[in-house]
Amino acid sequence: MLRALEQIRRMRGGAQSHLMRCSDGHYYVIKFQNNPQHGRILVNEMLGTRLAARLGLPTTPVAVVEVSEELIRLTPELCVELPRSRIPCQAGLQFGSRFPGDPRRLALHDFLPDEQLREVANLHDFAGMLVFDKWTCNTNGRQTLFYLQEGLRAQNFERPPGEAEGRSSWSRPDVAGPPPSALRAEFGEVGGGEVAPVMPRYETKMIDQGFCFNAGEWTFPDAPLRGLYTRNRVYQGVTGMESFAPWLTRLEKGLGEKVLDELSREIPPEWYADDYDALLRLLEQLHGRRARVPELILQSKQSSRQPFPNWI
Ligand SMILES: Nc1ncnc2c1ncn2[C@@H]1O[C@H](COP(=O)(O)OP(=O)(O)OP(=O)(O)O)[C@@H](O)[C@H]1O
Ligand SMILES: [Mg+2]
Repeated sequence: MLRALEQIRRMRGGAQSHLMRCSDGHYYVIKFQNNPQHGRILVNEMLGTRLAARLGLPTTPVAVVEVSEELIRLTPELCVELPRSRIPCQAGLQFGSRFPGDPRRLALHDFLPDEQLREVANLHDFAGMLVFDKWTCNTNGRQTLFYLQEGLRAQNFERPPGEAEGRSSWSRPDVAGPPPSALRAEFGEVGGGEVAPVMPRYETKMIDQGFCFNAGEWTFPDAPLRGLYTRNRVYQGVTGMESFAPWLTRLEKGLGEKVLDELSREIPPEWYADDYDALLRLLEQLHGRRARVPELILQSKQSSRQPFPNWI
């Protein structure tokens, strides 16, 4: 069993998660059973992320992580802030989403400006993620991490070896980004409106599946704008329903009852208050909804937001 060894810092966001160093040498963003959103958020994260990975989408590895009573007792920061009080985080089995690298060295960005979105190597995966978010009725906006691709880090932004942590100009990973001059596109529009090739430099990973299945409700209140990423730019490669075909096919062929059942067994029962019937109902609904996804995407297309500029 993976264990948390040390709390590094509190993360922002409604679930009040914490970055923690764990026994496999990696860092994980941990959400606790007694988070202020809902206990079922942990189920949604684990099941949702594993399903997205099965669809071939870019996710971070996720795991059940044990946090001991002792670590919580010795770390006053490990608490949940409520409107009028603070209570310690719950000990036991929690949800962890792996930080994609060393947090002291890798700068993460929650957003990229439109210009830099063109430099994301796997931008087309946003179309696939829409298939997932429609299927699971994610009632939160799609959230993602952006970071420089591995080979480009050292030459561009990695802190020079030996430089003290926290002293470089960009060194607050996941808060500050690279300096603006470094973020400026190196390839882009050139004179006369001509568009030069864009060099892919960034990579994206889809995170925060906590509000899939409508958070703690485990219902599916579908709506045309639900699941869409905030920038239409990420859908510029979508030219018709066939643009979603790879993920729709995997959804239909690769995510049958057996897979759903298998994935549900990896979830600690205390995360759903031992209500196995509720979990089964959720899985049945998910299974039954697979064929509805194209229709839900069409409703987005027809909405006044017009998210797919190149789907004529
Ligand atoms: N695997 C990860 N690696 C690095 N950073 C992460 C990872 N997972 C989450 N984060 C960061 O931690 C913060 C909180 O994550 P997340 O959005 O999942 O939690 P949340 O509390 O549900 O937020 P929200 O308020 O959006 O509901 C965000 O800033 C996010 O970028
Ligand atoms: Mg979030």
